[in-house]
Amino acid sequence: MTLDLTPDELLSTTRAVRRRLDVDRPVERAVLEQCLRLAQQAPNSRNSQPWHFVVVTDRDQVAQVAGVYQRAKAGFLERQRAEAEALPAGPERDAASATYQGRVEFSEKLARMPAFIVPCVDASTDAGDGTTPGPWGSVIQAAWSFMLAARARGLGTVWTTITPFQSELAEIIGIPHPDVLQAALIPVAYTKGTKFLPGPRPPLETFVHWDRW
Ligand SMILES: Cc1cc2nc3c(=O)[nH]c(=O)nc-3n(C[C@H](O)[C@H](O)[C@H](O)COP(=O)(O)O)c2cc1C
Repeated sequence: MTLDLTPDELLSTTRAVRRRLDVDRPVERAVLEQCLRLAQQAPNSRNSQPWHFVVVTDRDQVAQVAGVYQRAKAGFLERQRAEAEALPAGPERDAASATYQGRVEFSEKLARMPAFIVPCVDASTDAGDGTTPGPWGSVIQAAWSFMLAARARGLGTVWTTITPFQSELAEIIGIPHPDVLQAALIPVAYTKGTKFLPGPRPPLETFVHWDRW
């Protein structure tokens, strides 16, 4: 079953969901498969469909994957905490502390996530020097399609990356690293409530250039 969302609502409310992921509600395999079938329809280089998706639902593996994320983000979180503490008392500090706290809670919750999706590309199709955007330009669109399809079904996702820890993750879930590289690590769970709002974004003139930069 899908939510009653217009295309514009879907595109503007597919947020990074961290606090409202319902880790106690299982996600049906059939629903994940629907999202993956929609992901397959994404634009891709020469219709080569150069992607693989690892779906992690095994409880033990989920906990291990969460551990990799926690190790990968430990330094970042520590910096966020220190930056928040360095601010003078007031609304800005409160907001920074809340953001930090939210990310800590999210990180701790990952061990109980119903599923992780790991979109991957075959690195042999990438020159590795940034001159062949084909595989990456393909897998990223497929993964975003997955996230949109998930949102339409009441699921929340977050695009996360653990780049320097890819080999650790690869070992846990059997990805033949470095022949196959990971584009993202996407936790998936039903959301608590399905109403989300568009995120704050600056006006078009700050990033759109008509005819010339
Ligand atoms: C390349 C990339 C890497 C990201 N890495 C992380 C991450 O490691 N952890 C996380 O919680 N969110 C991560 N995000 C999610 C962003 O924080 C989020 O998309 C952005 O802040 C916009 O927030 P919104 O969806 O609430 O508007 C990442 C997003 C992208 C596109």
